[in-house]
Amino acid sequence: MLGPVILAASRSDKMRRLVSAAPGTKQVVARFIAGETVDDVVPIVSELSGRGLEVTLDVVGEDITTVEQSYAARDAYLELIGRLKELGLGARAEMSVKLSMFGQSLENGHELALANVRPVVEAAAEIGTTVTLDAEDHTTLDSMFAIHEELRKDFPQTGCVIQAYLFRTEDDARRLAANGSRVRIVKGAYKEPASVAIQDKPEIDKAYVRIMKILMDGEGYPMIGSHDPRLISIGQELARRAGRKLDEYEFQMLYGIRSEEQNRLAAEGHRMRVYTAYGTDWYGYFMRRLAEKPANLLFFVRSILTK
Ligand code: FDA
Repeated sequence: MLGPVILAASRSDKMRRLVSAAPGTKQVVARFIAGETVDDVVPIVSELSGRGLEVTLDVVGEDITTVEQSYAARDAYLELIGRLKELGLGARAEMSVKLSMFGQSLENGHELALANVRPVVEAAAEIGTTVTLDAEDHTTLDSMFAIHEELRKDFPQTGCVIQAYLFRTEDDARRLAANGSRVRIVKGAYKEPASVAIQDKPEIDKAYVRIMKILMDGEGYPMIGSHDPRLISIGQELARRAGRKLDEYEFQMLYGIRSEEQNRLAAEGHRMRVYTAYGTDWYGYFMRRLAEKPANLLFFVRSILTK
């Protein structure tokens, strides 16, 4: 029951101010957010890479309100890619972007987001890596998929995310699997109404398995984004049955969650990518992590009370 309440709070400015000002917040945020600046995150990329893990980097931020903020988001990614280039880390790190941060919800947002994300995708390609478009709430997805298709004309490696909880996703998976796309499948992290999304957790897991099968049997590159041990082992089995080699799919988990499992999968020879978020606008990302696991909320409340 707590999850939906926390997700509703993730969109509230009043709660944002309260949570950000609470003593102890920083310490809990640091579990999920790798730092505030490029200088904070670069050593983490090296460290993860040294452990045989791949990385996808997310500059946190979403729901911006001005065009200038959308340019700042673009520039933050360009700065990051520049640093990865200097350090020769391009091959290990791809980027994950939220189109809302690139201006998608502003006036002419679709065109603005496309214009902002294109130079990021170009710069990533120049250093031998790629970009994945994250999936946000369901109202943004038609635009996200259209931008994905447009970018793939010049940069076929551009990936996108699909969410198992949405009724539409099996159809999206079939289309993307048939056209050879990189696709990350996740359960879904937003508060969605029953008119568009499955509400029952076991039913979401069943949909996840059906979608993984579509992706594994298809022509694309499946990226299994989950910490759920049952789904991970089913993913391994589906890949084996589809005759995929270890470099023809990958697993992805979030920074700070189930690190030992991340190491174990990498040691078994799997490609294991860690979604590493950093930046100052961490509120929405952090609240979704609290919503996913009530124990995180208890830990958070306890750390505030003991300050
Ligand atoms: P589930 O929530 O059932 O968790 C399985 C187990 O993992 C838990 O029992 C717990 O041990 C551990 N766990 C999971 N979440 C935890 C947390 N926050 N803190 C501590 N332990 C936790 N969503 C979306 O809508 N759009 C997107 O673009 C993305 N992108 C994305 C990238 C990657 C790499 C991952 C792994 C996930 C996302 N997500 C996402 C989030 C996703 O939709 C989902 O909310 C989380 O992955 C949690 O679901 P699980 O599949 O991990 O299962």
